[in-house]
Amino acid sequence: MARKKIIAGNWKMNMTPSEAVELVNTLKPLVATEDADVVFCVPAIDIIPVMEAAKGSNIQVGAENMYFEEKGAYTGEISPNMLTDVGVKYVILGHSERREYFAETSETVNKKMLKAFEHGLTPIMCCGETLTQREQGVTMDFIRQQVKVGFLGVTAEQAKTAVIAYEPIWAIGTGKTATTEQAQEVCKGIRECIAEIYDEATAEAIRIQYGGSVNAATAPELFVQPDIDGGLVGGAALKPDFGKIVNWK
Ligand code: G3H
Repeated sequence: MARKKIIAGNWKMNMTPSEAVELVNTLKPLVATEDADVVFCVPAIDIIPVMEAAKGSNIQVGAENMYFEEKGAYTGEISPNMLTDVGVKYVILGHSERREYFAETSETVNKKMLKAFEHGLTPIMCCGETLTQREQGVTMDFIRQQVKVGFLGVTAEQAKTAVIAYEPIWAIGTGKTATTEQAQEVCKGIRECIAEIYDEATAEAIRIQYGGSVNAATAPELFVQPDIDGGLVGGAALKPDFGKIVNWK
């Protein structure tokens, strides 16, 4: 069965709640489609106002992060229950900015993955190499390790519902999109890695996005690739251009 595309915006630390509502109102008519799942991953404080503003549309709301404990003395963190209680379905885990600035490791990402599945949340697990790793020719080794550790203990049935976002770090926010060949090659490698961990059926079902300076001009050539099932979009998700990315065909 053909995989449905999933096109997600990662708003990062942008948009106050009132700005968020305004943006949803602008984007709502532009992102209307039945061909893809459209997800807005937004800062925690924006989740409820964005859900309200998105009511009646095809926009699904996701979080940008989540902690792996149920509750307790974890100042500043947000629990899976808090997300599901308000109807959140998706959560980005292990974004490279969280790995770089907030000391996340593949081990903590794995704990979050397990917790997300336990609560019925769909993780969008990020992976991706630095420029140095690419230049040293270790891109696939590094990403395979991120995927293998991230999915430790995840069942095949759970993995089939997951989303992996391949985001080369050198392409994030730089305006340097990976070439379609580079993006397809790594996304194919990730699918092969999933087939090795689980089986062909799981590899065929899991959705793999590309992220890193995706824009309206580059989206069509990326999304047409056989192993790229959509995008995780940063900067361009905050602009009307996001509508063109969603309706890339
Ligand atoms: O999660 C999204 C990525 O970090 C891509 O961000 O589209 O601004 O390069 P960008």
